[in-house]
Amino acid sequence: QVIEGSYFTARDCDQVDFNQDALICIDSEGIISRIVNHDDPKFGEVRRQAEAQNILTRLSDSQYILPGLIDLHVHAPQWAQAGLALDRPLNEWLNTYTFPLEAKFSDVNFARRVYSQLIMELLANGTTTVMFFGTIFNESNLLLAKQCAQLGLRGYIGKVAMDNPDQTPEYYRDLSAKQALLNTEEFIFAIQELQSKVGGTLVPVITPRFVPSCTDDLLAGLGRLAHKYDLPIQSHCSESDWEHGYAMARFKMTDAQVLDHFGLLTERSVMAHTTMLDHDDVDLFKARGTAIAHCPISNAFFGNAVLPTKRILKNGNKVGLGTDISGGYSPSLYRNMQQAVMASQMLEDGVDQTIVADHRGVTDSRISIKNAFYLATLGGAKALHLNAGAIKVGCKADMQVINKRTSLIETQADDIFEQLIYQTERSDIKQVFIGGTLVYQN
Ligand code: GUN
Ligand code: FE
Repeated sequence: QVIEGSYFTARDCDQVDFNQDALICIDSEGIISRIVNHDDPKFGEVRRQAEAQNILTRLSDSQYILPGLIDLHVHAPQWAQAGLALDRPLNEWLNTYTFPLEAKFSDVNFARRVYSQLIMELLANGTTTVMFFGTIFNESNLLLAKQCAQLGLRGYIGKVAMDNPDQTPEYYRDLSAKQALLNTEEFIFAIQELQSKVGGTLVPVITPRFVPSCTDDLLAGLGRLAHKYDLPIQSHCSESDWEHGYAMARFKMTDAQVLDHFGLLTERSVMAHTTMLDHDDVDLFKARGTAIAHCPISNAFFGNAVLPTKRILKNGNKVGLGTDISGGYSPSLYRNMQQAVMASQMLEDGVDQTIVADHRGVTDSRISIKNAFYLATLGGAKALHLNAGAIKVGCKADMQVINKRTSLIETQADDIFEQLIYQTERSDIKQVFIGGTLVYQN
């Protein structure tokens, strides 16, 4: 099929390209096979052919195409409690709200209701690829995968592994490291089998919940499984003073060093939050090729610090964006792009020293809205080694069509882009395509 319209796409961390009234040609595999610019002499001919074959979709002048967004960190079961109990510190929130909720996912009927609603909500917010934490229960994890396949979402899905009796409740933990590893392996095979039947993108992910939840045997075993099956890994790293202090007390190492010690920092790893990383940890992440899932809304509640995103990007680390449902209350990566910029501005130093606060932050911390857009698209794609996140020949045709509000003043492409990212609400997202297939229509 061929889509005629104007689009924005990130070229790199700092630059966003605009292409007005182009033809985006999508092949039968769901890949963007050709882009014909408006001033290309072939434009008229390609357009006529597409029209004759009845495969042309023409957008209106107030509509814009953006790549589908990539959410690197979602706890699928926690959708049921999004927006609850965010006044509690992380450890208390886990024990009093989160673990009791996740334990309910032994009931697949409950899981079915929560997961189907969540996936629709993510699609409606323009998200086309998600890295999910499931629960410890494989039956509901597999259901999550099936629902991703049914609704078309690209899903990277992990069976949560957590066996440490000191830090997990008896009613919600893997019985032993051995059992957790067997169940993880069983889940890997089940997803691989499902993927071979249904196609799309379904990838099993090695998922130690976080260092405190796991025994040494489990961390070591999961590192071996990731290596054996060449799989992505996800976890939390250095989120909160509490987690940071816990790793120091138990291992006399930073959280990042512990994960590395067990073979869990690889070029396919995605670590959420990382607000408390020190300079050596950031360099370690870079050396291993490990990506960071920046979760700016969640970090405002549980992170105990603002992630110095600018410095980490300048260092050359891989970074993408995550909603962290339900540490983050919103399923929208638009809201997280906005919060990423706002948090970075608050980290920035003030120049005016005449008021009482004589030290207001860190200079050169601000990120731009273009940087944030990069994180939510190409940055996420790089973290997952997925050929998506851009409107470009050879990329998967994952796209969203946005209805832009009418501008009351004259605007250039950069202005239109900025307003789109700050102002787009769920109701402005008209269509979402994954691999060229329409998966959501508003
Ligand atoms: N650390 C361990 N588990 C969790 C979780 O579910 N959410 C967040 N934000 N941090 C965690
Ligand atoms: Fe999380």
